[in-house]
Amino acid sequence: MFKIYTDHQKITRTVCSEVEKPYSEDVKKTVREMVDYLRLSQDDEYAKKHGLRSGVGLAAPQIGIAKRMIAIYLEDGDTLYQFGLINPKIERTSLKEAYLRGGEGCLSVNEPHPGIVNRYYKVVVSAYDVLTEKDVTITAYGYLAICLQHEIDHLDGVLFYDRIDKEHPFEPAKGAIAV
Ligand code: NI
Repeated sequence: MFKIYTDHQKITRTVCSEVEKPYSEDVKKTVREMVDYLRLSQDDEYAKKHGLRSGVGLAAPQIGIAKRMIAIYLEDGDTLYQFGLINPKIERTSLKEAYLRGGEGCLSVNEPHPGIVNRYYKVVVSAYDVLTEKDVTITAYGYLAICLQHEIDHLDGVLFYDRIDKEHPFEPAKGAIAV
């Protein structure tokens, strides 16, 4: 089980380095474990027993590794999205923006930060996915797109509340979609 680092610890504010090719089995195993961690965190019984907060995304610096790796495990409607990504990169974004109605949360942030985070409604992300063992190009909309942006931000030491507008914390961007 991982120790989760918080925003009071420097590692969560670090710009992470790219993982060099060829990706080692150790690196891939860690990323698979990050996906497992999220899945288990959503199992009420397991989470309660182990004192885990439920999460849909996790980035390597949150477990003390300053490398560009993220995990996603989330259900949106009838679809389960799970990815274990090495060197994820946002290739394209939409002009349209979106935000989570209730604001964002983060396993590394334990204090409340009221407000919404305006992000791109759509992103195209390239990466190596350890779950399928392939280079992938993910076209994501809405909730998944927001999660990917949140996790990729972590790799640059950026936390969600950095993006909350200080003057108008609850103001959606023009034309933004509430998710
Ligand atoms: Ni987070």
